[in-house]
Amino acid sequence: MSASEMYEKMKARLGHVVPDAELRYKAGLADEIMRLKQERNAVILAHNYMEPALYHSVPDFTGDSLELSRKAAQSDKDVIVFCGVRFMAETAKILNPRRTVLLPAQRAGCSLAESITAEDVRKLKQQFPGVPVVTYVNTYADVKAESDICCTSGNAAAVVNSLKADRVIFLPDEFLARNVAKETGKRIIFPARKSRRKGGAPENLDYQMIGWTGSCEVHDRFTVEDVKNARRQFPDVVVLAHPECRPEVVRASDFAGSTMAMVRYVKESAAQRYLLLTECSMGDNIAAENPDKEMVRICSIRCPHMNEITLEDTLNSLKLNRYVVEVPEDIRVRALRAVERMISIG
Ligand code: 13P
Ligand code: SF4
Repeated sequence: MSASEMYEKMKARLGHVVPDAELRYKAGLADEIMRLKQERNAVILAHNYMEPALYHSVPDFTGDSLELSRKAAQSDKDVIVFCGVRFMAETAKILNPRRTVLLPAQRAGCSLAESITAEDVRKLKQQFPGVPVVTYVNTYADVKAESDICCTSGNAAAVVNSLKADRVIFLPDEFLARNVAKETGKRIIFPARKSRRKGGAPENLDYQMIGWTGSCEVHDRFTVEDVKNARRQFPDVVVLAHPECRPEVVRASDFAGSTMAMVRYVKESAAQRYLLLTECSMGDNIAAENPDKEMVRICSIRCPHMNEITLEDTLNSLKLNRYVVEVPEDIRVRALRAVERMISIG
């Protein structure tokens, strides 16, 4: 594809949302990225939260955490460029130890991944011996290595049910855990808040899930009031929430699902108007793909970590081979078990 063909492709998708001068500049970057991608035998995986000009130009695959993990597992390219955050690129490396995995920005973190350490998990395992550990994929490799199985927002309830255990430790997202507990009919406790200081397991035995109090700094900002305001103004609006939102927000919504489930929902539903309770670039990406549908714009919450990744960074990543993601082999091997078990559950 030539530079002008790239510009035409991006204009067709984004002409009504991105100013023309910016589009021309970004099409130039995208064209150079495509050339280097071929030269380096690379694949570009991009999360649904990438900015529209990136999302709609250079990726070979876009998706949620689960789909991108699956694509990473299937890749036969020499280089995987991960346009997402560090824990996602680490997952790709866990699955592809012999390939070069690049994260275009060094500081692309995640408030959930930073909320828990491997030592925290080891302490919980001592406190609740023999109880299987499920960790959300939004964690770093050393935390995954302490886990029996990982999950994403797309398969969390299925993973918990698959264990057929009386009790499950579910880490580190408090709201996802509460939403999964509700969906699976389990009672949940949060020992990190109360009894961890005392050592042993809590005396009250009426619980089936043990959670942690991490949260996503984006999703914990949506409120029931936001939903009510949108419904007051637009009575026909369909409200879609990410399961990292507070349980009361999920309850007030019409649908909850992973980012990819939301993309599919809007595509397949006949409704005209949607409120997406998730990171706001995704609303722009869905709006560009569904020009006949309206996204209600109350959202101005951008994930600061996803926002680190730009087309310029992606170009430099391929040009300068940066930033190479490494996972120590002993940790990788243990984390791989948990990630592979997750991938096998749909
Ligand atoms: P998804 O797996 O639903 O894409 O979620 C990833 C994420 O980081 C949401 O904030
Ligand atoms: Fe992490 Fe939240 Fe950003 Fe997703 S949106 S990467 S969970 S901080």
